[in-house]
Amino acid sequence: MEQYIIKGGSPLAGEVEIGGAKNAALGILAASVMTKDPVIIENLPDVRDTAVLIQAMESIGTRVERIDRHTVKVIAAGINSYSIEDGYIKKIRASYYMLGALLGRFKKAEVALPGGCNIGSRPIDQHLKGFRALGAKVEVSRGMISAESENLVGNHIYMDVVTVGATINVMLAATLANGKTIIENAAKEPHVVDVANFLNSMGANIKGAGTDVIRIKGVEELHGSTYSIIPDQIEAGTFMFAAAITKGDIMIKNVIPKHLESISAKLIEIGCEIEEFDDCLRVVATKRLASTHVKTLPYPGFPTDMQPQITTTLALSEGTSIVTESIFENRFKYVGELQRMGANIKVEGNTAIIEGVDSFSGAGISAPDLRAGAALVLAALVADGFTIIDDIRFIERGYEDFPEKLTALGACMEKAESERDIQKFKLKVG
Ligand code: UD1
Repeated sequence: MEQYIIKGGSPLAGEVEIGGAKNAALGILAASVMTKDPVIIENLPDVRDTAVLIQAMESIGTRVERIDRHTVKVIAAGINSYSIEDGYIKKIRASYYMLGALLGRFKKAEVALPGGCNIGSRPIDQHLKGFRALGAKVEVSRGMISAESENLVGNHIYMDVVTVGATINVMLAATLANGKTIIENAAKEPHVVDVANFLNSMGANIKGAGTDVIRIKGVEELHGSTYSIIPDQIEAGTFMFAAAITKGDIMIKNVIPKHLESISAKLIEIGCEIEEFDDCLRVVATKRLASTHVKTLPYPGFPTDMQPQITTTLALSEGTSIVTESIFENRFKYVGELQRMGANIKVEGNTAIIEGVDSFSGAGISAPDLRAGAALVLAALVADGFTIIDDIRFIERGYEDFPEKLTALGACMEKAESERDIQKFKLKVG
């Protein structure tokens, strides 16, 4: 089993280059099968979730050629099945985007029920409601969701909750429906906008993405395109907190500072300095950070995917902080691991009450999910002594070259495959 072994204590300093946004990439990859023309996708992050989705696309006859590590050419002219049963696909959340994409193009799709991080019950009722509103017959049975329609017709759809997944999925299907669709109470996340921009570059007619009303005029067909994915807001935010928690100084390159405003605002509030440039941000922390209150919210609020990273940082800040998770109900599972490192955090329902401690101590811990796993790496970077993190496959779902990027900033860590690797690392770093 692969693990990270980390020796804490070094402040991180230097430059880091942020990759393409994983969550935008998943929507864009799925959308790329909606035309028979070749599509070139640039700035694609090389992470496990995108690899799994590409594998699923290939399982139905899509050709995906890798031009370089971050560029693929997708040719979906030869799709010969509308059913994705591939066992792997259940492991990722975004498998459901193949439903919207195939339903739009072929009016027929069948996909295994989605998996993804276990961070609470993750219903898909709004996706199904949206497809039904477009005239599809939708059924869930034997672990599969199937959707079919003779003729998809645009409609007025009100989302009962703000959901990124359902907004993107309904947008995909509606792009090739007859007539106009209006999605109200739409999610406004940067990746919703990026998927809409990509679809528009293929000939779709989508307006209003990034606001809470998206208007889509269905088109007959989509054509090929070359498109570059936006930078990853959450990878960037994670490195911002890496600077904060280690009292470091990191220039985070290839970002859209606007997408990071809620994160920057909290970091400034707790005592970091942030310098903003056109496409980079410098985060500097020189002293012990202060406490704060934060609640996760849909964009432009503070992202739920940054909740474990801020909670971990506040666990070492001066005073009492309160973090409220309002998007997913079971997203504090990593707190038990932080407590093993010395954190003083009490979780009551969807709220964590954090009494800042002076230091963490290294321990053997497990990554319970993707973002919590990254937060535990941050904790390990400042802990006294060695920390060994298990289940790093979760972290690799969404972070490309995480140990390499952190090491280049001065972190003392390695990926280990055996007890021998761990002993070798300990001897090497002393
Ligand atoms: C996406 C992101 C995930 C992020 C989340 C919120 C991907 C692959 N994943 O997940 O990293 O944490 O957005 O920013 O892009 N809900 C319903 N019914 C539905 C759909 C959602 O009740 O049909 C609820 C969910 O339980 C949750 C909230 O809506 O409480 C938001 O979920 P949603 O935005 O859909 O998250 P995902 O798309 O699953």
